[in-house]
Amino acid sequence: MPTITFIHSDGSVQKVEGTHGETILRIALDAGIPLEHACGGNGFCTTCMCDIPEGMMNLSPRNDREENMGVTDDPHRLGCQARVQGDASIQLLDEEG
Ligand code: FES
Repeated sequence: MPTITFIHSDGSVQKVEGTHGETILRIALDAGIPLEHACGGNGFCTTCMCDIPEGMMNLSPRNDREENMGVTDDPHRLGCQARVQGDASIQLLDEEG
């Protein structure tokens, strides 16, 4: 199982076991991390955007929805579209509270 290291905006770190092929958004929500997802995880907003400081190669390739939303440059990914295929670190952005 991939180990996903979430880095909160306050610098604290939370390691989570993820399921291969699952989205960053789903793994975060299942771990109780309130990653924003205004469009319901359909790739039509950017509220789930994360930075990927490590392990970009262990995520699924960018898809059309990410490219249509202009999320085309490293280290950015849409949490609802990027699927984990191995260990990765996820920097959470714009976290509330
Ligand atoms: S939740 Fe809207 S793009 Fe990911």
